[in-house]
Amino acid sequence: MDNLNNHIDQNKEQYLSELFDLLRIPSVSADPAYKKDVEKTAEFVKGKLISAGAENVKICETAGHSIVYGDKILDASLPTILVYGHYDVQPAEPFELWDTLPFEPEIRITEKHPEGAIFARGACDDKGQMYMHIKAFEVMMETDSLPCNVKFIIEGEEEVGSKNLEDFVQGNKELLKSDIVLVSDTGIIANDTPSITVGLRGMSYVEVKVTGPNRDLHSGIYGGAVANPINVLCDMIASLHDKEQHITIDGFYDDVADVSDEDRKEMAKAPFNEEIYKSDLKISATCGETGYSTTERASIRPTLDVNGMWGGYIGEGAKTVLPSQAFAKISMRLVPNQSSEKIAKLFQKHFEAIAPESVVVEVTPHHGGEAAVVPTNFTGYQAASMAMEKGFGKKPIPVRSGGSIPIVALFEKELGLKTILLGFGLDSDLIHSPNEHYGVFNFFKGIETIPLFYKYYTELNK
Ligand code: BES
Ligand code: MN
Ligand code: MN
Repeated sequence: MDNLNNHIDQNKEQYLSELFDLLRIPSVSADPAYKKDVEKTAEFVKGKLISAGAENVKICETAGHSIVYGDKILDASLPTILVYGHYDVQPAEPFELWDTLPFEPEIRITEKHPEGAIFARGACDDKGQMYMHIKAFEVMMETDSLPCNVKFIIEGEEEVGSKNLEDFVQGNKELLKSDIVLVSDTGIIANDTPSITVGLRGMSYVEVKVTGPNRDLHSGIYGGAVANPINVLCDMIASLHDKEQHITIDGFYDDVADVSDEDRKEMAKAPFNEEIYKSDLKISATCGETGYSTTERASIRPTLDVNGMWGGYIGEGAKTVLPSQAFAKISMRLVPNQSSEKIAKLFQKHFEAIAPESVVVEVTPHHGGEAAVVPTNFTGYQAASMAMEKGFGKKPIPVRSGGSIPIVALFEKELGLKTILLGFGLDSDLIHSPNEHYGVFNFFKGIETIPLFYKYYTELNK
């Protein structure tokens, strides 16, 4: 591995400059205006896979954005690692909140990243982390140390729900046949506290529309006598949580998998400081479901959040109007054993049932996905733990994350594969927010640690 690390050391500038090129292409999957850039990014990934030494590299078109596939099969008797990542990014808006432009990467020192961090949309989620895999593969090829087979599947629609990848996985089971999935799209506790994500939440995302009168009205002439859809929507949304912050939708908790006291105790061992958490967010109090800690509320419990809400007049100054319609986008994070489809249906039924007669409500489900848990008692986790321990000089802590990567549950369902979530980001890297960044240390630590996973996994499965 010394040889490998020397090789990485000699090429650091080159790797960074390639990552910068990748970050300059605005591959925003949600916004059709970026369609060409998304395609350009797929081409970029394809080119880098080829130059790294992958074979059978191809761009697979879908009904949406393309999927990039490539592989290197050394010997059918060796284990095969399926590397998954995404090259699409979240929208960068609002642009004015960025200190430097989102698609013009720049390295700056931060408190958490004294060795510098790369500021750009997608730096951490997931271009920077996905690119570590291409470079790690390249290094193994160049130093003649690839120990097993590898397949890459890099998609362009993770940030919009991976719907087309789902179809692709269902239709290409033979192509994707592997022993384990390896993903870097999560984080670690801190650069001196390595961890491995062993749980992801699922998701049910819905949009609601509340319609009152058939047109916008003068709020003086009609106000008080006609239901205001925004007022009604606020009431309805407020009623979705009770005083203890439980979700009031009938049946919402029916399938929630209980976490044993023993497991909760184990989880509570991961370092967490409530005071630092609050001061970082400039809040004086945290808030959530009675009976659970902050960490538990944000990982092992299901939630319901309004992501956006609009209607009426939101322009400059004041306009007196009683709006005809009000809208909201609502996400529910789900935990193991809950079904995203069932939850979307329960939500719809409940929301229609609580609507007063004065309005009409319409619920439209968006994307969904199931939660995932990674066992810690199989060779995949053992190899990941050994790799992290070697890379960071400290044994990693298993932690359950609150985020979602819907395809992980699907890999298990369709391909029968477990996924190792070997992420290197920090919670403070501002993914999805303005000023997203990724530590230079983390980028190279990932490139260094990934080959160790390959090595240990192969050794444990020979
Ligand atoms: N990489 C994130 C998920 C993530 C981040 C998991 C940090 C754990 C820790 C992924 O790109 C993401 O943002 N997923 C979406 C879900 C998707 C359906 C839009 C999410 O979690 O909101
Ligand atoms: Mn991601
Ligand atoms: Mn994301």
